[in-house]
Amino acid sequence: MEHIHAEFLKSSSVLKECPEPDKPEFAFIGRSNVGKSSLINMLVNNKYLAKTSGKPGKTRLINHFIVNDQWYLVDLPGFGYAKVSKVQREKWEKSSMNYLIKRENLRMIFLLIDSRIPPQTIDLEFMEMLATKNLPFVILFTKCDKLKKKKIAQNIEEYQKELSKTWTELPFAITTSAVDKSGRDEIFSVIEQLQ
Ligand code: GTP
Ligand code: MG
Repeated sequence: MEHIHAEFLKSSSVLKECPEPDKPEFAFIGRSNVGKSSLINMLVNNKYLAKTSGKPGKTRLINHFIVNDQWYLVDLPGFGYAKVSKVQREKWEKSSMNYLIKRENLRMIFLLIDSRIPPQTIDLEFMEMLATKNLPFVILFTKCDKLKKKKIAQNIEEYQKELSKTWTELPFAITTSAVDKSGRDEIFSVIEQLQ
């Protein structure tokens, strides 16, 4: 998708504040600092659209961006960030979960996973939860520019090994980088199929 124009629309703290569910919507979720906001910016060719940070816990609200006046991209707060209070953390996680479960126009969840590290319990549990609730998701392995191809393949294989202990069918996965833009076409192809 080359002609792409994205604008910030609204930040909401809870589902009922979100824009009217009148357009197809695609959400980005994953641990704090995994690269959700950066990947959204990469997709829409605008480094400054979603706020990014080297420190985890940057995105704290449900942020809607409208693309080509036709569909929404949603940047969500990350989960698993240790440095905020438990109450604050639970509040964010609860509002994100409620959004994921109830948002009626949500066509696909992109679950971001850091390609550089071994399988994390928190990510595996999150996938289990999505599957239990019948929520469709695609895995996006992030920051692939930081590793050699071989190492990425090994890490992904470890994930698949871990998942195949409990899953019969593995989730669809795309390797990505906000730096070298890899995975962009594949992500758009998922989005286009679900318009
Ligand atoms: P929260 O909003 O805190 O949950 O974080 P986030 O998941 O939105 O992460 P964000 O996009 O803010 O990126 C976190 C850090 O990772 C920043 O320093 C980014 O520059 C860096 N980063 C994100 N994506 C990539 C990538 O593909 N490659 C590299 N090398 N760095 C990346
Ligand atoms: Mg963010």
